[in-house]
Amino acid sequence: MSRNRPRTRTHRRSRTLVLALSTVLAVSGGTAAALTGASPAAAAARVDNPYAGAKPYVNPEWSAKAAAEPGGRAVSGQPTGVWLDRIAAIRGGTGKMGLRQHLDTALQQGANLVQLVIYNLPGRDCAALASNGELGPTEIDRYKKEYIDPIAAILADSKYANLRVVTTVEIDSLPNLVTNTAGRPTATPECDVMKANGNYVKGVGYALNKLGDAPNVYNYVDAGHHGWIGWDDNFAASAQVFRQAATAEGATVDDVHGFITNTANYSALKEDNVKIGDTVAGRSVRESKWVDWNRYTDELSFAQAFRNQLVSTGFRSDIGMLIDTSRNGWGGTARPTGPGPTYDVNAYVEAGRYDRRIHIGNWCNQAGAGLGERPKAAPEPGIDAYVWMKPPGESDGSSKAIPNDEGKGFDRMCDPTYNGNPRNNHNKSGALPDAPVSGHWFSAQFQELLKNAHPAL
Ligand code: BGC
Repeated sequence: MSRNRPRTRTHRRSRTLVLALSTVLAVSGGTAAALTGASPAAAAARVDNPYAGAKPYVNPEWSAKAAAEPGGRAVSGQPTGVWLDRIAAIRGGTGKMGLRQHLDTALQQGANLVQLVIYNLPGRDCAALASNGELGPTEIDRYKKEYIDPIAAILADSKYANLRVVTTVEIDSLPNLVTNTAGRPTATPECDVMKANGNYVKGVGYALNKLGDAPNVYNYVDAGHHGWIGWDDNFAASAQVFRQAATAEGATVDDVHGFITNTANYSALKEDNVKIGDTVAGRSVRESKWVDWNRYTDELSFAQAFRNQLVSTGFRSDIGMLIDTSRNGWGGTARPTGPGPTYDVNAYVEAGRYDRRIHIGNWCNQAGAGLGERPKAAPEPGIDAYVWMKPPGESDGSSKAIPNDEGKGFDRMCDPTYNGNPRNNHNKSGALPDAPVSGHWFSAQFQELLKNAHPAL
């Protein structure tokens, strides 16, 4: 899941390149701008915003777990992402439903939109261990033949032609090639390998190309979150890597319907009390320890601005953004009710921010988090939907080593006693204790997400 990381280094003071990104430009194409995809069939079938007027599929497996928790019925009818997190997940039979079963169930529900997460790259999760996967760094051919091809074949079945299939492509992969490789203090040897062998770029390109062949598939590439890509040295460079991947292995920018931010992360949607333009006691909030020269304080402003950057990097002008709001509510009794004191910029930011993480690079099972905005179509200009791609209640990683047959490692960012690493500037992890392996049900976390939901349930 998702982690995400960081930024590059603290206290970057480069004031170069003020990206004057007007949010006005963020306004997405608006009405029925049918995409002119590669084939005429695609052009006819795709709508500008697949979420508009759609009835999204409710995953019965997640729904049953949520409903079994005290109070869980308040949200168990919400649509969540179906994660195809290993080859066996396509066929199912591993105690979980396979892809066809999900699509058939969607038809039975009378749903017309299904949300899938494509998540099985070679050398997956190169800057963390909790969601390492089954494919080694060189296994790009298995990724293509045993993972993407079978998914693409199922999605092309005419039986599913009237389902809008949203595919969110490879969470937490491409930005690692920018932020966690040689030359950065946050580099890991594993990310250097994936940059050198090109298999993240090739894998994403192949996925976009093949999945994009079905006229009812809508590809959204994962774009990290503001606490990862919102710094000057990461912003334009990440857009470039996305462009590179979207033009690799036969893919074109027409295979990209949009991007998703904050997948399985905790960054707040709107920080009403900490705006990037605020100046306090003569200092910009950008100078605060928390913001640390980032250009954004929240996901909505980041997603809208990054959309513009992507368009100027060569993506279609009608791309739309998704924001994962599954766990970024930060409500409950600790939620600030107004701006902080103005005698000092750090005091102001600390008392005013909704995001209660110890550090924005923290990503695993964050204590104090709550459910965020409920899934909603077209909530803001440039945003196709708020979605719950990470199913709330599913762990981000185990808080101690737990043997498993899923390739999942133990990342100490999921251990509440850990003192951190360069990717969270050596802070405590902020993780809840006693967590199971990533993707497994974590009842205590679900309870906390309900309790701290914002908007409240
Ligand atoms: C895990 C996946 C899981 C997903 C959704 C990821 O962290 O690695 O196995 O399906 O989260 O919970």
